[in-house]
Amino acid sequence: MTNASSIKKICVIGSGGREHVLAWTLAQNADVVVTPGSDAMVKKDGRHSVAITHEDPLSIDADLFVIGPEVPLVEGIADSLRAKGKLVLGPGSAGAQLEGSKAFMKEMTKEAGIPTARFGVFDEVEKAVAFLNTLGETVVIKTDGLAAGKGVLVTATHDEAIRDIRAKLSGEAFGNAGARIVVEEGLVGTECSLLALCDGTDVVSLTLAQDHKRIGEGDTGANTGGMGAYAPVSFVSDAQREELVALTITPMIEALKRRGIDYRGVLYAGIMLTTSGPMVLEYNVRLGDPEAQAVLALMGSETADLFAATASGTLATYRAQHKDAHSAKVGVCVVLAAQGYPEKPVTGAFINGLGDDGQLLEPIEGVTVYHAGTKRSQDGKSFVVNGGRVLSVTAVGETFQEARKRAYRGVDQISWPTMRYRRDIGAKMLEAKS
Ligand code: AMP
Ligand code: GLY
Repeated sequence: MTNASSIKKICVIGSGGREHVLAWTLAQNADVVVTPGSDAMVKKDGRHSVAITHEDPLSIDADLFVIGPEVPLVEGIADSLRAKGKLVLGPGSAGAQLEGSKAFMKEMTKEAGIPTARFGVFDEVEKAVAFLNTLGETVVIKTDGLAAGKGVLVTATHDEAIRDIRAKLSGEAFGNAGARIVVEEGLVGTECSLLALCDGTDVVSLTLAQDHKRIGEGDTGANTGGMGAYAPVSFVSDAQREELVALTITPMIEALKRRGIDYRGVLYAGIMLTTSGPMVLEYNVRLGDPEAQAVLALMGSETADLFAATASGTLATYRAQHKDAHSAKVGVCVVLAAQGYPEKPVTGAFINGLGDDGQLLEPIEGVTVYHAGTKRSQDGKSFVVNGGRVLSVTAVGETFQEARKRAYRGVDQISWPTMRYRRDIGAKMLEAKS
């Protein structure tokens, strides 16, 4: 079996907060190179180093490749790396279609017998509208293709839904990604993010997380990539999490296998817990961002081993040798975004409160600042805003309250003139407990 001792160098592909936490977690066991990465990821002080490079991943020499974002996966980077004999965590382009095409995802979900919202796939306005009329008032319109997390609209009225159907199908709103759409019934319930490592046959689930998708407090405003997350979700027990795996992950891996797809990577099920049971809203073929920050902050030196076992198809052996490693601690991540995100973020401002290593000037126990959209300032001493989601302040604590308090104390140290964030990350969990 491939184990961490044979993994001396790991290449992480991507540049956001998810890749930052991946790089720093994996650097507990191996040297890490991130491409293209971002300035704040560089680390030389630990036992292992983290370096960044702009080199093409195909020309990088590493023992394990971990692919962060969906676009390169859909484009087939895992296939190209495997063709060169590399060990890769991430599905090939056929499996990545689960995220690359919502129509494929719905078709596979149906084929695998996994509960999901009633839906239709359309490329003509009239047919889409006729189907719409068979659904209730709340309807969800989704672009078939990738749209950076912005292609989904939950509509309150059929008039709004018809406007969105027209905008998407005309190509006006999302170009080619909207040439085909999924129209589905709106579901009501509590969402959670189930991240699972799959080696083609076996599955190991990570700690269940909850994201906060809307830009505004109280879950209002536009959908974003995610404004904050925490893990675990305390009202779902470990046994219930494994039931979710059996309902949403294992049958999908088996259905893919029947189609000849050997899925090796992370499979992320976005699940709505409804009054009539759990339903899958979406599959992602990678770790969520910011879920990864909250989940990986709870993981340690076992991570490289676990990833290598997933990539090499030996999760069963890994399981037999390791006991369940879900941490008893809690991770909370608060995203600091630029004004204008998700539409048109305002970039360029200096960020106050960070040292030249990109971390808090006054360190707080358990808190790490993962960078999502920053670059080093020209004088090299600070960081400037260089993207929509800018920083993800992540804290680990013994309890949910402790982790949350630490994360927001970290946030309080950081500022720039147009910084925005949600003050209610995990508020629902707090309410549920009091
Ligand atoms: P997706 O990319 O498909 O997960 O959609 C993004 C977000 O839209 C989800 O996290 C949900 O908040 C919401 N959403 C998607 N599908 C539905 C649905 N059928 N009913 C209600 N909300 C949904
Ligand atoms: N945070 C949701 C996602 O990564 O898609």
